[in-house]
This record gives sequence, C-alpha cells and structure tokens, in this order.
Amino acid sequence: MSAYRHFDMNRVSHEHRRTDPCMSCCGWRDADPLEAVSPAGSNQWVDASLDPMSETEQIEVRRLDVTEVHAQLDGLAAVLHDCVAGGASVSYMAPFSHEQARGAFEAVAADVEQGHRLLLAAFANGDLVGTVQVNLALPPNQPHRGEIAKLLVHRSARRRGIAQLLMEHAEAEARAEGKTLLVLDTVTGDAAERLYALLGWTRVGVIPGYALYPDGRLCDTTVFWKAL
Ligand SMILES: CC(C)(COP(=O)(O)OP(=O)(O)OC[C@H]1O[C@@H](n2cnc3c(N)ncnc32)[C@H](O)[C@@H]1OP(=O)(O)O)[C@@H](O)C(=O)NCCC(=O)NCCS
Repeated sequence: MSAYRHFDMNRVSHEHRRTDPCMSCCGWRDADPLEAVSPAGSNQWVDASLDPMSETEQIEVRRLDVTEVHAQLDGLAAVLHDCVAGGASVSYMAPFSHEQARGAFEAVAADVEQGHRLLLAAFANGDLVGTVQVNLALPPNQPHRGEIAKLLVHRSARRRGIAQLLMEHAEAEARAEGKTLLVLDTVTGDAAERLYALLGWTRVGVIPGYALYPDGRLCDTTVFWKAL
C-alpha cells in the first residue's frame, strides 16, 4: 500500500510511516495543508513494504464541530490531563482531575457552538492524541486577529510531528475564517517555543514570572505573532 496525504477544508489524513525513531517525520511537514499533496511529492515517504522494520501510523487532523467536541470529551480531557500531569503550564494547577479536564472542554464546546472558538484534534490510528484551539472572539477593533491556545499532545505521541501538523491546520483554518494575524504565548524555554520559531512565528519578547507551573513554580512566558 502506498503512502498518501489528502486534505480538504475540514480534514486531513496521511499515512505516516517511520523507519527510524529519531527520524523527524515525513514530507508533509513542509507542505501547505490546504493543498492536496501527491505521495510522490516527497522523497521522505517510505513504503512499509520495503522495510520490515517500519511501523505505519495513520494521522488525521480535523476541526471538530460542537457535536464532535461532546463526543470526544473524554479523549480531549485525557490529553489535557496528561499534559498537566507532565508539568505543562497550560492554565491548570495540580492536582488536576480527568473530570476537571472534561469541564474545561465542556466550556470550549460552548464557545465552539457560538462560533467564538475553533477546536482541532489529531488522531493517531483513530485515537485522539492532540488538540489545539483558535480563539476568534476578540474585541470589535481586532476582527482580523485570532489567538492560538492549548496546543496539547499526549506524552505518548510526542516528537512525531503532531503539534506541527495541528499548528499548520489551525493557521489554515484561521485564515479561512478571515484572520490575518495570530498571536500566542508559551512558556519560555519549553518545547513549544522551539516549535513556533520553526513554524515561522516572530518572537516578541519574554514576560518574566508570567504564570505558574502546575506545582506552583513561576515560569516566564514568551509572546509570539504570525501574519497569515
Ligand atoms: C509542545 C508540544 C505540543 C509539542 O508536541 P509534539 O507533537 O511533540 O511536537 P512535534 O513533534 O510537532 O515537534 C515539532 C518540532 O518542535 C520542536 N520540538 C518539539 N518538542 C521538542 C522538545 N521536547 N525539545 C526540543 N524541541 C522540540 C522540534 O524542533 C520538533 O521537530 P523534530 O522532532 O524534528 O526535532 C508538546 O510537547 C506538549 O503538548 N507539551 C505540553 C503542552 C504545552 O506546553 N503546550 C504548549 C502550550 S503553548
């Protein structure tokens, strides 16, 4: 079976094949998510049939409507719960339960229903492993701007390019909503800071002691922007 990638406005699928656990993933990282890409378009694609050591993983990223957010509440909550348990500074303090995480996404569902927020999810072989949000509800004098929030990938699914794929599609969805400017902030020195720089975001600067880690330690925050 050959590797492939396909994207339509609300959905992307690709068959993700890795031959080396250290390999930084496949050609789709460099592709525009709004363009369908031929599997022949990247020489980094590897057909599993050629390599007995390879593993095949099907990654899908899509925007969820309110019905799907409700249907995926447990999966979304599991990712958020895992990230907080792993020490991520993403608004919540320890101890943080699965039920609290569900509550957080119930509030997101209400925003999605009102058109105030986009929520995207990444699925690996059908399991929800990552998510990101775009806040669209900004003051009347900033209709062109959106805010990226809660980029989360389960610890078991990291370093496979899932956050990068989520961001590419969040940016594409924001553009499709008419946004021309995105902003975000992230913990200074964490993995996400490197990812945003890699994706062409511009670093504004650091705000010292902006937030807390789940265990109560202060962390600095770096602010980024990107024109779409
Ligand atoms: C930040 C986070 C979303 C990254 O998810 P991910 O799926 O592992 O990221 P990707 O595999 O797409 O990484 C893409 C690139 O980002 C950089 N990166 C990601 N994780 C990194 C890490 N732990 N250390 C250094 N660089 C890292 C690398 O350049 C990586 O490319 P490479 O793997 O080819 O080197 C994930 O670590 C996470 O959920 N952290 C906790 C929540 C959080 O802090 N979210 C950010 C809130 S703003």
